[in-house]
Amino acid sequence: KRTVKDLDVAGKRVIVRCDFNVPRKDGKITNDNRIIQALPTIKYLIENKAKIILMSHLGKVKTEEDKAKNDLRCVADRLSELVDTKVTFVPVTRGEELENAVAALNDGEIVVMQNTRYEKGESKNDPELAQYWASLGDLFVEDAFGSVHRAHASTAGIPSILPNALGFLVEKEVKMLGAAVDTPVRPFVAIIGGAKVSDKIAVVDNLLKKADKVLIGGGMAYTFLKAMGLNVGKSLVEEDKVELAKEYIAKAEGKLILPVDHVCADAFAEDANTVVADNENIPADYMGLDIGPKTVELYKAELAGAKTVVWNGPMGVFEMKPFANGTLQVCTAISELEGATTVIGGGDSAAAAIQLGFAEKFSHISTGGGASLEYMEGKELPGIAVIAEK
Ligand code: 3PG
Repeated sequence: KRTVKDLDVAGKRVIVRCDFNVPRKDGKITNDNRIIQALPTIKYLIENKAKIILMSHLGKVKTEEDKAKNDLRCVADRLSELVDTKVTFVPVTRGEELENAVAALNDGEIVVMQNTRYEKGESKNDPELAQYWASLGDLFVEDAFGSVHRAHASTAGIPSILPNALGFLVEKEVKMLGAAVDTPVRPFVAIIGGAKVSDKIAVVDNLLKKADKVLIGGGMAYTFLKAMGLNVGKSLVEEDKVELAKEYIAKAEGKLILPVDHVCADAFAEDANTVVADNENIPADYMGLDIGPKTVELYKAELAGAKTVVWNGPMGVFEMKPFANGTLQVCTAISELEGATTVIGGGDSAAAAIQLGFAEKFSHISTGGGASLEYMEGKELPGIAVIAEK
């Protein structure tokens, strides 16, 4: 694919779609990683004298009240601390104020437009909206890896109109995820966790084709254990997925590895009573909320010697201390592997690794949640598909 380096950007108005959908508390950004990860492209455009127009969504905007909660100004403020150029925030998504701000841009300066989701047409990829936004620029750069699974006006509509290229973040994500999933150095071990089987079944399906082993953790494990005929007490089970889980176990030919013991609790609460139980002994009125110590040892043994590891989804309810050990141990084991390519595919597992202080120890932590999942499912991502070949 074409990248920003293939474009002649000097003096041109360049629209960059970023994923500035950052977590916030009381209006303050709690993790600016997505802004930091967008800097290589932004700085390249500053140095190469483009007139830069940044677009992003922030949160979900369904009502008028959602607008105030998801005002993108906080992102523009943070960005202005990170770059050495003028950053102008425009609090609207169309009209004279926006057009004037773009017209006033000098080479190397930045306009940040208000949250793209202030426009209803954004999520519908409304052609009129895409046309209008495209009219503000000469070129388009796709750098919103976290949003490339969305065929929205700002991710897919504008690039279908303007000459386009990938930004450095999308380029890096595709290179790292692609190398891990599609051309892995073996042994290749995938670890998939998280609460629900239904969210992860497609990725398990694709990884069973590509990896040497697929280790399962988190709430989703219990649907598989139930499919094996085990009594899982009050653990989370998706009844309508039990048959499917049976099929996967049958066709996995031993590649699919399930937990053998659990930290069980009598309530979904930090102060619940807990007991460690093997698969056969989960008490009827308890639920499994983390993998147990034998599973930790089993998974460490499966990971030993791996040359490629892809991890998506926590092993337990890591936000609650009594159920954080499995995720912590797996995270530690992956981070200690020598000479291995280790990739975290976004979302909660990325948050867990960062929160546990392991961010530097992985080859790559994806900025995508849904996007990295869909990439690992082998799906075509509309925001990337629309970008021209070299
Ligand atoms: C994400 O956080 O995964 C992306 O920013 C996409 O957000 P969305 O799920 O609201 O489209």
